[in-house]
Amino acid sequence: MKEALQQLLTQAVEQLKVSQVIPADSQPRIQLDRPRDKSHGDFASNLALMLAKTAKMNPRALAEQLIAALPANDLIAKADIAGPGFINFTISQQQLLGQLQAAYASQRLNVELSAEPDCVVIDYSSPNLAKEMHVGHLRSTIIGDAVSRTLEFLGHQVIRQNHVGDWGTQFGMLLAHMEELDASDSQWQLSNLETFYKAAKKRFDESETFADRARQLVVSLQSGDQYCNQLWQQFIDISLSHCQEVYDRLGVKLTRADVMAESAYNDKLAGVIEHLRERGLLVEDQGAQCVFLDEFKGKDGEPLPVIVQKKGGGYLYATTDLAAIEYRQKQLGGTRLLYFVDQRQSLHFQQIFTLARKAGFVEGELDIEHLAFGMVLGKDGKPFKSRDGGVTKLADLLDEAQRRALTLLQQKDNELSPAQQQHVAEVVGISSVKYADLSKNRTSDYMFDWDTMLSFEGNTAPYLLYAFTRVRSVFEKAGIDMAEVPGEIILEHEKEQALANQLVKFNETLQSVANKCMPHFLCGYLFDLAGAFSSFYEHCPILNQDDAALRNSRLKLSALTARTLQQGLALLGIDTLEKM
Ligand code: ARG
Repeated sequence: MKEALQQLLTQAVEQLKVSQVIPADSQPRIQLDRPRDKSHGDFASNLALMLAKTAKMNPRALAEQLIAALPANDLIAKADIAGPGFINFTISQQQLLGQLQAAYASQRLNVELSAEPDCVVIDYSSPNLAKEMHVGHLRSTIIGDAVSRTLEFLGHQVIRQNHVGDWGTQFGMLLAHMEELDASDSQWQLSNLETFYKAAKKRFDESETFADRARQLVVSLQSGDQYCNQLWQQFIDISLSHCQEVYDRLGVKLTRADVMAESAYNDKLAGVIEHLRERGLLVEDQGAQCVFLDEFKGKDGEPLPVIVQKKGGGYLYATTDLAAIEYRQKQLGGTRLLYFVDQRQSLHFQQIFTLARKAGFVEGELDIEHLAFGMVLGKDGKPFKSRDGGVTKLADLLDEAQRRALTLLQQKDNELSPAQQQHVAEVVGISSVKYADLSKNRTSDYMFDWDTMLSFEGNTAPYLLYAFTRVRSVFEKAGIDMAEVPGEIILEHEKEQALANQLVKFNETLQSVANKCMPHFLCGYLFDLAGAFSSFYEHCPILNQDDAALRNSRLKLSALTARTLQQGLALLGIDTLEKM
């Protein structure tokens, strides 16, 4: 609907160019907003205000001309001029009903597939494998996953890249420790990577011989020594299977096939340096190879270096990212590259993106975006820590979520068998953690709070899951399949109208999630949808309804609500429950 309206406005603009009301070369961006106040119609546009200057016209007069130039259509019921020159559009009832029927009849709720699909390469999760996944990996993993699912649903090609850190000096220490333990001990200790890492670090700090061996092993590993590589491979395998367990529990779509580790770029790194040298971008600074970009200056006003090769010849994080960005455009065919990485790496990515373009690692039209996110904080407002003050392993966090959900369930009245309770607790626990994160604006920090996230009230997973089960139970009582409700939709009651208006916003909501990579837009939408359903349910009897046509219409609205909730949650990576 939004796009159709945009289309009409584009045509009006063209019309005004022909009649020379506005200059032929003006290319306004046509923006449509959803007004908060329902009396302002369904969409508002500031187009006349934007064009007034180039047209040398009063915005209200221009708004009038724009309205007059709109082609004939059955979309708009009313277009009013408001304030200094806004145009408020009201969508026709006929259009609204048509949209609802189409959504009801369509598997994908009538959500449009992109007319120009992108090939989107998405870097998310990407933990370092030396340690176990901890709470710091949560945001990248689930936000990246939700955006990937949404883009896929909209018809884009999505290529996931789990750029795991599997290379670097820490691995020397880990391999040395593996070597010291005998095989069975080592297997056992590796079942807890966190402890293993700590033990290795302890050995490294206390023994000079051990530290020497660790350094030696890094050199051998990097020069391709077979023994070292086998040992390393063993470690990486174990670490990756820990990650996979977390992904599976979280219901995140990543698999081993999406892993494109740092080490996979090793044989490209010398070429990266050579390429930079040929382009005349390389500068030697205290023995290290650097690139200085004018765009990035330090506090002292001097350009900051991007170090691409260390004094001893070793390559860096940035070098690998240059190789990776080239691979993503040139080998994978990406037209849009997304990086879901902590905001502390913003400077790194801005430098990489600028340098990659300047040096020609990437070319032509290409969207490259660092989707930064804030931190997870504890109740004290400081970075979230476990009880013993250490980092919280994700696996432990999820255990606790399930435990807490189970306790809550057991306190409530319900007819679930113990096995069902276990299952419900699992879904509720995990989805609460995910939803709490996804529903916050990606760019800000947020406070991790068990009580709020597990609450059945407010913008939470339990609230939405419960809302879904409520609609399902209407159908169970009605004894009718959601897909087989006959008849037309009738919108008479104010609450029916409000629910209908919310239902048809699904499409545009998904578009904005995909454009801005902001899953909290979808969460907000679903929360409002559940709210609209709840007041509809309260005011509009469904089953206690003598009028068969009205009963069917209301059942249809309920079915659409359930399916939209379910689809929306699925795009967030959250499963629904039939009962809870
Ligand atoms: N492994 C890195 C870390 O844990 C994140 C990698 C992000 N992706 C990238 N292409 N640099 O900080």
